[in-house]
Amino acid sequence: MKVGIIGSGIVGQVLAKAFKAEGYEVTLGTRNTSKEDVVKFNKVTNIAIATFEEVAKQAQVIVLATKGSGAEEAIKLAGINNFSNKVVIDATNPISETVAPSNGVIHFFTSLEESLMERIQKLIPEAKVVKAFNSVGNAFMYKPKFPGGTPTMFICGNDDRAKTVVKDFLILFGWETEDMGQIEAARAIEPLAILWCIPGFIGNQWTHAFKLLKM
Ligand SMILES: NC(=O)c1ccc[n+]([C@@H]2O[C@H](COP(=O)([O-])OP(=O)(O)OC[C@H]3O[C@@H](n4cnc5c(N)ncnc54)[C@H](OP(=O)(O)O)[C@@H]3O)[C@@H](O)[C@H]2O)c1
Repeated sequence: MKVGIIGSGIVGQVLAKAFKAEGYEVTLGTRNTSKEDVVKFNKVTNIAIATFEEVAKQAQVIVLATKGSGAEEAIKLAGINNFSNKVVIDATNPISETVAPSNGVIHFFTSLEESLMERIQKLIPEAKVVKAFNSVGNAFMYKPKFPGGTPTMFICGNDDRAKTVVKDFLILFGWETEDMGQIEAARAIEPLAILWCIPGFIGNQWTHAFKLLKM
């Protein structure tokens, strides 16, 4: 299965390496394939670098890992039709670039009535978008080891088969999954990133993940 990552930042790089480690053919996408950082990444990992459009065209599964405010622009650059019928893992968060955190609480440019994931799904209605990986720091996305046990990744999306695909990836990556249902659940899953960041900003504590305890 060919996995295409749209986004060359740390999340894109971590997930690209993780998929490669699990035996998938991976390509990392950027707007600028000659950017020093991605050229170095390609040399070190041997993971192919391509434009957003090339990545989206070739991939069977697409990971969206761009800056939240650039997500819709990135999709347009990648070509709306190149997402049709594909599983799209949405790892983005709608973090405001203009408003600084208030006492460690980051600001979103979305509201509790509409998540970034919903905006993304509206832009690519034929895609099977699944929210995942947004509620933990990149250092723990692949094979996290916590003394408290296996952490929980909260996911949501409208397509059950796509969620099964993503759940299987998450199991490979060392996570348990909680399916929170349809796309509106992203209005609750995206703000988990706000909660996750607070201990970091107020106490420089960045080494945690969420776990759902159940009876
Ligand atoms: N950092 C974390 O630990 C973490 C954890 C969970 C979720 N997230 C979320 O994951 C996403 C990626 O985070 P990140 O820290 O890896 O990197 P980032 O700096 O948020 O995003 C970098 C990527 O966004 C692209 N980009 C930026 N502005 C754009 C625009 N206007 N149009 C199109 N593309 C644009 C960049 O393109 P180029 O390749 O051309 O530079 C690059 O590929 C974010 O939404 C973030 O909130 C981050």
